[in-house]
Amino acid sequence: MNYHVLTLFPEMILQGLNTSITGRALEKGILSLEAINIRDFSENKHNKVDDYPYGGGAGMVMAAGPVYRAYEHTAEKIKKSCISDNAEKKPRVIYLTPQGKVFHQNIAEELAEEEDLIFLCGHYEGIDERVLEMIVTDYISIGDYVLTGGELPAMVMIDAISRLIPGVLNNDVSAEFESLQDNLLEYPQYTRPEVFMGKMVPEVLLSGHHGNVEQWRRQQSIIRTAQNRPDLLEKAHLSEDEKKFLKS
Ligand code: ADE
Repeated sequence: MNYHVLTLFPEMILQGLNTSITGRALEKGILSLEAINIRDFSENKHNKVDDYPYGGGAGMVMAAGPVYRAYEHTAEKIKKSCISDNAEKKPRVIYLTPQGKVFHQNIAEELAEEEDLIFLCGHYEGIDERVLEMIVTDYISIGDYVLTGGELPAMVMIDAISRLIPGVLNNDVSAEFESLQDNLLEYPQYTRPEVFMGKMVPEVLLSGHHGNVEQWRRQQSIIRTAQNRPDLLEKAHLSEDEKKFLKS
């Protein structure tokens, strides 16, 4: 997977993703990441990339020109690096915006199949609509709140997509979304010591009885989901016994 991030703050992207699990995958070459500075594509003598909004109003708008040129430069580079039969396929361009479709594990899974992804990070009051219409394929929000820019959302998406790519996680277990398996939240986890400040690890986990452990974990998942995400529980596949357990 090759990530290309169009941004005014390349160091934020590079520093954020060059650590931990994504950092190791980048080192191993399973992932590649480049941050393209939109400011480098300004034709203004002060490298300006924003301007006042037509029609008035607060804030500044990122101008279409530098964004378009940064995109073109990136798309051209991707095209050159592609093996010939793939060269005509345009890479998806994801624009991070609170007005987009809300990011979800299903979207991460779909995007993990791509060879290249371009992320476009906005700042100020947004980007000139005309260039968005020309280049963006996906408008994505990471939730109903407003951030100062698209960099953190891009990093969130890159993290979620990357862990689905074979070789990125070092365990053998598939990166299926543990936490959202069958629309249930994950059960609680414990490690040594057995007693921490007087609090015991649940007895069943020490029993060595695999069947009981599985049943307990499933029940914990159901309880957690009922408490924290009743909206998910409606979509989960519960057995008749589990439905009874939930009512009890
Ligand atoms: N840019 C600013 N806020 C955002 C959000 N919630 N999701 C995606 N991009 C954003």
